Amino acid sequence: MIRIIKLKAEDTYSIRKEVLRKNMTLSHEMMGDHDSDALHLGIYERDKLVCIGSFMKAARTDLSGRQYQLRGMATLDSSQGKGYGKLLLQEAEAILKNKDVNIIWCNARLVAIDFYKKMGYQVMSDVFEAPQIGPHYVMYKNLKQIREEKTKASLK
Ligand SMILES: CC(C)(COP(=O)(O)OP(=O)(O)OC[C@H]1O[C@@H](n2cnc3c(N)ncnc32)[C@H](O)[C@@H]1OP(=O)(O)O)[C@@H](O)C(=O)NCCC(=O)NCCS
Repeated sequence: MIRIIKLKAEDTYSIRKEVLRKNMTLSHEMMGDHDSDALHLGIYERDKLVCIGSFMKAARTDLSGRQYQLRGMATLDSSQGKGYGKLLLQEAEAILKNKDVNIIWCNARLVAIDFYKKMGYQVMSDVFEAPQIGPHYVMYKNLKQIREEKTKASLK
């Protein structure tokens, strides 16, 4: 049985350490983790937390509108490719749209670019290097535009 629920920041730490900070000295804690408007989601496969993602209110000057940053997106190795990452992003979008958020952006690892592209995110930067982790691109998804496109489609 699969459950998707809101987590406390601390609940995400074990998967962050295992999947995102393996062999690194970088902290698993992230800026904004404890902000009152931060959203942490997790997917449980029976009693085991297998997928996490955190969403913090953070605005880039080169994007407009109400923005959240996606951070700490990870699925346990043994549970990857089962659709959990997709499900978690879909749930986050639904929650954030209800808060009138129209942009989600992230610093995407090179290895995850195609995952985010499948989820409707676009690359908006040149490649940059994150210490210890490696190459990244800034990517974003415009939630409002998608809502407008859906409305237009339903009016046809
Ligand atoms: C990237 C990650 C979060 C994806 O999670 P997941 O639960 O395996 O993803 P899903 O199973 O929901 O995949 C959704 C779709 O994306 C595809 N996909 C997933 N990871 C992919 C990748 N790295 N490259 C290309 N496509 C990928 C899947 O094949 C699937 O496609 P489909 O809908 O056509 O079947 C997971 O692989 C992971 O934790 N990777 C290591 C940590 C990491 O790099 N995190 C991102 C930090 S920016």
